[in-house]
Amino acid sequence: MSIEHRRIVSVVGARPNFMKLAPVARALATRAVVDHVIVHTGQHYDLAMSRAFFGQLSIPAPAFDLGVGSGSHGHQTGLIMQRFEPICASLAPDVVLVYGDVNSTVAAALVAAKLGIRVGHVEAGLRSGDWSMPEEINRVLTDRLSAFLFTPSREAGENLLRERLPSDRIQFVGNVMIDTLVHALPAARQLALCRALGVGEQEFVLVTLHRPSNVDDPLRLGELLSALETLAKHTSVLFPVHPRTRQRMVAAGLEQEYRIRLLDPLPYLEMLSLVADARLVITDSGGLQEETTFLGIPCLTLRSTTERPITCREGTNRLVEPRRDAVLAAARNSGRGRANPARSIERWDGCAGQRIVAALCDGADFC
Ligand code: UD1
Repeated sequence: MSIEHRRIVSVVGARPNFMKLAPVARALATRAVVDHVIVHTGQHYDLAMSRAFFGQLSIPAPAFDLGVGSGSHGHQTGLIMQRFEPICASLAPDVVLVYGDVNSTVAAALVAAKLGIRVGHVEAGLRSGDWSMPEEINRVLTDRLSAFLFTPSREAGENLLRERLPSDRIQFVGNVMIDTLVHALPAARQLALCRALGVGEQEFVLVTLHRPSNVDDPLRLGELLSALETLAKHTSVLFPVHPRTRQRMVAAGLEQEYRIRLLDPLPYLEMLSLVADARLVITDSGGLQEETTFLGIPCLTLRSTTERPITCREGTNRLVEPRRDAVLAAARNSGRGRANPARSIERWDGCAGQRIVAALCDGADFC
């Protein structure tokens, strides 16, 4: 790209997008020649799932809110496309940046690519190999549509090369989620939220579950809640519940059946405060696998695959079959404190957002 004035549009919609946008928005704000326009699709809309992140992470307010809300995949993806297309056409940006692997990501990428606008994918190249995950479909399609593939790890770049994507599109920039963590950690530590919840540092297990494969089937969800109830007899368990999970629990009458302390979804700083002080994290989230690895906290991921294998190989993450006995056995074995100090992973260093912006604005390999 030339150095004259340019417009970059970022499209975000769901909770994990916001943490990825924050460092890119911060780095773009330092470039006088860039007009950065943020579009929020409205995929997530609750205060704690959306607006709280913009405030805590100092992300500028979106210029457009598409207000699509919840719905089936086809409905949500289609509505984002319908509503983003005229905005994208009239803004005519040089690049549309999309983040992660949610429905908002692939919908915006499709619109931009069909308008002949170059797409930049932040967090390109992750692969679980599990085509039953909606996110895997979103990742593969978004990467195929993208002119700039910003990868968080070398293995993500290798995945893209294996799919025969051109090497000159791939830029190994590092992990934008870790940028946000590094930036926010001092404020999160000051919160010491666990104390306010009546438990001490490293004296509790933090749980999050929201994947359809774990929460949509009442039998599977009941089995996992039963494991957590047993665990809670021996240690404090803190479980901020995603709206999807809460809905499934209520619909199946599981909320009353199991005696577990449930919390509402938490904004970013509160969640990071709990992650940083947890003895163990049990999750099915993608981002938490990375955050726990960076912080050196044992993490059990209740899935059979991960798109972030580096967190198992070089970090503190371990895949565990989402079954009652397997979860309890793994929790028992990992209950001996922070046995795995964080090893530094290449370019998980707080500078990924700057590398992305340097690549976009200077055409330079900043690294
Ligand atoms: C989405 C992403 C997932 C990501 C997760 C993070 C896709 C396909 N999935 O899953 O990759 O890990 O976000 O949170 O994009 N709801 C509310 N309030 C909200 C948002 C959702 O109550 O602000 C409820 C709605 O009933 C909705 C359900 O949660 O139907 C699921 O929301 P949705 O955005 O469809 O998928 P997530 O499970 O959040």
